[in-house]
Amino acid sequence: MIATSTEDFRRAARRRLPRFLFDYIDGGAGDERTLRDNVGDLAGLALRQRVLKDVGGVDLTTALFGQALAAPIILGPVGLSGMYARRGEVQAARAAAERGLPFCLSTVSVCALDEVAAACPAPIWFQLYVIRDRGFMRDLIARAKAEGASALVFTVDMPVPGARRRDAHSGLSGPLAAFRRYAQICGKPDWAWDVGVRGRPHVLGNVAPVLGQASGLEDFMGWLGANFDPSIQWRDLEWIREAWDGPLIIKGVLDPDDARDAARLGADGLVVSNHGGRQLDGALSTARALPRIAQAVGDDLTVLADSGIRSGMDVVRMLALGAKGVLLGRAWVYALAAAGGPGVGRLLDMLTAEMRTTLALAGVRAARDVDGGVLDGR
Ligand code: FNR
Repeated sequence: MIATSTEDFRRAARRRLPRFLFDYIDGGAGDERTLRDNVGDLAGLALRQRVLKDVGGVDLTTALFGQALAAPIILGPVGLSGMYARRGEVQAARAAAERGLPFCLSTVSVCALDEVAAACPAPIWFQLYVIRDRGFMRDLIARAKAEGASALVFTVDMPVPGARRRDAHSGLSGPLAAFRRYAQICGKPDWAWDVGVRGRPHVLGNVAPVLGQASGLEDFMGWLGANFDPSIQWRDLEWIREAWDGPLIIKGVLDPDDARDAARLGADGLVVSNHGGRQLDGALSTARALPRIAQAVGDDLTVLADSGIRSGMDVVRMLALGAKGVLLGRAWVYALAAAGGPGVGRLLDMLTAEMRTTLALAGVRAARDVDGGVLDGR
């Protein structure tokens, strides 16, 4: 497969995956307005072409939370990645580590913390959701610590799950869901063999210890649905700050007032994110929300951003809007579904090559030097 863009990986993922899985990744909440705006608003920002700036050796390296990165890119947390490719989290974490980039494992991954940490040659980041059972959260934080996780990403934009209409149409939920999923799987024999058979067990590895002998993913999703905690408030985060002494990053902030609260809490970083348009449909795109947030918190904490990044040009645009680094979501998952760990590696090589070319043509020698001047404001 020749893939020269995220869209190529997306098309290949659509060919390979049963429809319910592709639509789960690809879809957003409601009318998918915010999902479209994320991509459109970002890609619509014009870059300034500059010339004769001695751009022979463009440097992408950076440091975030005391960690050296080959480029300001992190593989963001995406649940159920072990369903898109065999032991998908392990494959993706390795591909990122081989390129000097961090991988952030989701709470709701198929592969458990210990499986991924043992297989990955570099420390991983770990993402935590707000779960009613605080003991479970405490235990996960302790496990993340024991496995050497180098950052904790605490996701706060899912007190309740967003309304994802595609899931009802695709067979992930709705009438005769199990039958429809089975029919779709029969039409995708490569996936059925590679992931359906050889990728077992299909459990949420981090949740399995709580559920004991649960039989299928539905039990896990049911547990999760019943255990998201909508009563969470900022003050509930204080104990997390105390329980985790490493870098703490709050993910899912879209408003400057919330960003200031994150700084007051003592977080080290935040991710400007609307969960890839999967939560509040109609919310601002992150390209539009980011500049005000970066301005509101200044250097009080490290601002990262995600949602809508599909190219190296998009990474540069986010840096220009005020982010110090970006998280990829669907982009890396399309690549994983299309071609496993090697696909993720090719996507990352593609994005970093695009970043180099973009910076050279914009007359900037280092990703660290990118600022608003890279964008054409006229
Ligand atoms: C996500 N995202 C997510 N975020 C998180 O904190 N924990 C999670 O388990 C998940 N799971 C998840 C599953 C799928 C299929 C998707 C597409 C996304 C959100 C993710 O980290 C990120 O914020 C968005 O994906 C960014 O938007 P783009 O770049 O995918 O458009």
